[in-house]
Parts: sequence; C-alpha cells; structure tokens
Amino acid sequence: MTPWGPQASPSLSSMDRLINLPVIQSPVDFGPLLDRALDVAEEEEDASLLDDASLACAVDALSVGGDGAPLPQNTDGGSPVLHPSPAMSLPVETDEDQPSQSEGNREGKRMRRRNKRRAEREKRSPWNYQPKLRVGEKHSTPDVIDVSFGVEDFPATRNAYVAKAQAIIRERPLTVQDLKDIGMPIKEWEGKTSHVLRDRGKFNVGYLLGQPNDEDWPAVVAEANRVFEEARVEGEGHFTASEKKTRRGEFVALVAGVTFCKSKEHPDVRGNLEKQQELIDRLCENPAVARIAGFGSASMAYGAPKIYRHYVDHLEPLYERYGLSTLFGDSIFPSANFNLGPQSASAVHADSGNVPYGHCHITALGNFDHKKGGHFVFWDLGFAVEFPPGASILIPSACVRHGNTVIQDGEKRYSFTQYCPGSLIQWVRCGFRTAKSLTQAERDEIDGVGDARRQKLMNLFSKYDELAADQQLVFKKGKI
Ligand SMILES: [Fe+2]
Repeated sequence: MTPWGPQASPSLSSMDRLINLPVIQSPVDFGPLLDRALDVAEEEEDASLLDDASLACAVDALSVGGDGAPLPQNTDGGSPVLHPSPAMSLPVETDEDQPSQSEGNREGKRMRRRNKRRAEREKRSPWNYQPKLRVGEKHSTPDVIDVSFGVEDFPATRNAYVAKAQAIIRERPLTVQDLKDIGMPIKEWEGKTSHVLRDRGKFNVGYLLGQPNDEDWPAVVAEANRVFEEARVEGEGHFTASEKKTRRGEFVALVAGVTFCKSKEHPDVRGNLEKQQELIDRLCENPAVARIAGFGSASMAYGAPKIYRHYVDHLEPLYERYGLSTLFGDSIFPSANFNLGPQSASAVHADSGNVPYGHCHITALGNFDHKKGGHFVFWDLGFAVEFPPGASILIPSACVRHGNTVIQDGEKRYSFTQYCPGSLIQWVRCGFRTAKSLTQAERDEIDGVGDARRQKLMNLFSKYDELAADQQLVFKKGKI
C-alpha cells in the first residue's frame, strides 16, 4: 500500500518522468470506436442513408440500442421492454412511416436495407461480436501515454483469478487541491480523443477511450443522466445502508449481473430486493444505457482483443450451462454498477475481486465542471486526468488503484461501470466446481505449476505494436 500523504507521494519532478504524451503514429487506430458513421458509410449501398432521419441510430454499428438494434434482455431472459424517451427520439416504424406512392421504389428499397441491417444486429451477441477492423485503417490514431508501471507489478494472486486486496488510500475521495498538494500531474482531456496507456513492457494496459463521434451522443448521455437521476429519486426510502454508502464513497449504488451465488453454490444472477431489481431492470432496458454498455464492450474487443476472447471462451459456456442472459444485448461484461449519485466520487481503491488481467469499463455521467472535479485518479500510474460526462475509460480495475475527485456543491455526477468478477472465470476453469474441491494435482493440471498462469495471463494485454496482429488473430481467424 502506498501511504497517504505528501511525504509518501512521488515528487513533481519524478511524476514528470512517469508520463510523457507524444503523439505517435500507430499501425492501428481507433477509428471504428470513434467514427461509427463511417462504419456504415463504408458500405456504398448504404451511403445514401447518411442523410436519412434515422442516421443517428442507423450508424450505431458498434453498439446496441438505436434503430432496430438488439434491445437489452431482462436478467431473467424475458422479452426486452423498450422505454422510449424524448431525449433518445428513437424512430418507431408506424403506418405513417410507410412510403407513399409518390416516393415509389426508393423508399421501399430503403426500408428493405433498414430491415436487413436490423436483422443483422439482432443476430449479434457478445459471443460472436466482430468489429469491422478495416474501417480503422483510415482514421485517427490514439495518443500514447507512457506510464512507469508494468503488468508484472500487478498484485494478482498466484493463480491470478483475483487480485490481492489493497486498502483504500483514504476514507474520503480526493479533492483537486489534494492532487496539487501531493504534486500529482493532472492531464487535461476533453473526453473525446483516445489515448492508450502503455506500460514499461509496451503493453496497452488501459485506454482513455473518449466517446463515439456521433452527433447524437450528447442525447445518449442526457438520457442516461435522466434515467440515473430518476432511479435514485424513485428508490429513496428503499435503498439499504450499504447501497447508500459504499466502501468507495457516499453515493447510491446498485449492483447488477452475474456473480458467484453462495446460496446456490454456483454463479447466478445477483439477487436484489424487489424495488432495486425493478430499477435495475429499467436501467438495463434503457436504450441509452445499453448503447453506452455496448460501446464499452466493443472498445475492449478492439483495444484488448485477447482479453475479449478470454472472456468469451469462459463466459459463453457459463451462460449456456445456467441459462443466463447478458445484462445488455451485446456487452460482454457480466456485471455492472450503477452509481446514482447524486455526487458519485470514489476514494482511491482497487476492485480486487475482478479479473486481474482484464478490463473494467467506466463511463462518467452527470452535469459537472470537469475542470474542477470528477477527475479520474490513476493512483498507481502517477497521474490524474479530467473525466468529462459522456467519456469512457478502460482500466484493469483489480490491480490499478483508482478513484475520483469530488465535484462542486450543487453539481451531480453519476457513473456506470462494467466488469468481470474473477470468480466466474475460476469456476469454469475448475470444471464448474470450486477450487477448494480440487486436489493440488488437479489445480496444477489446470493452471500450471507455480505462477505459470499468472505469467501467461500477462500476455493477454496486447503490446502496442502487436495490437493489429492480435485483432487479426482473434477476429479474423479465431472462433469469435
Ligand atoms: Fe473501482
């Protein structure tokens, strides 16, 4: 643990050496994540649709929600329920949308194309997700942030199913003044451009993803803000003490998804009280929240393809065995936290129960001045970054301690996180049994001797210069 206090923190000069921010050319880029309109526009036959009223949803090629996209499933696997809202303005096909005689064949052709795309989207799931990698060859490159930290520093347990527990740095979240007092550099970020966090060994250990370059993204964020606020207000009087004050900070948080269920002695959907589950279902069914979830999943597929495949290889059989459904139609992450505020800010912590060599997706929401608060603190990487509403980050949250700075009075901040509990991977690798039920010889056969598995898992992170090759390996030739 790094003790709290200015005397224990790196000096400003040493912090300066921890990071540098050159813009360099990469053999791959984040075009597909940030310019989804082009994902559709590349298909010439669809180019005419770009001026269509349904553009905002039609271009949603890397995520869920929107026009005809697969809607999120209820956690019980039931039919999804759409809660349309003015902010999303999702097009709904009615008789009035049918082409008039005067529009003739052009409108009919457009409808057939739209229905074809809808059918394609409905077939998607996290298990067969396929990013359109070739689109990325045309567009912008991410900036690189080199960090003086390495995956070999990760405090994973020997078999690396979870991380070693680390104490919270301090009970309350840091302030911007705290960061200044300890000399921690603060990187400006408008939350739109992508940055890759590259470790000592040139592994891409994390990403400042930014946000999709869609003109409707502000509406997506506004709708997510609305439904998060609505959930907290409606749930007042129902939340438990632990839901109102988490170990990370004082804000309302709901937890959803698949985790290890002790009462059933196997993984299952996390149990929640009735009102909480009602709120969670509504959040999961909201197209804006689902779209943010899909963006996070697609981002991990693109930026960490081997980790994505690792998740698929273990989670798909788990879901099949127990008849489980994903929280969101095509998001790979089995669990999610809805941090409902009103002022969500976490003390510096690590989420040690998550997969150590995997990513957690975090999206900032709310209305706050990101210059004055809400910064994301990469404690173990030695810097903080502005984190505006609507922007997303991918980090290995089990091993890299992180937190947020507090926001100003009267402001609101929510956040949405997706992650994978390490216990799920372990359950599958142990043959749908607990590790405790296995002999040491059986464990060694599964995980190798010593820290063999830990060493192997480090390489799930893609090296900066090998990302394109990893994408090809996973998505062009592999099973996914
Ligand atoms: Fe966290």
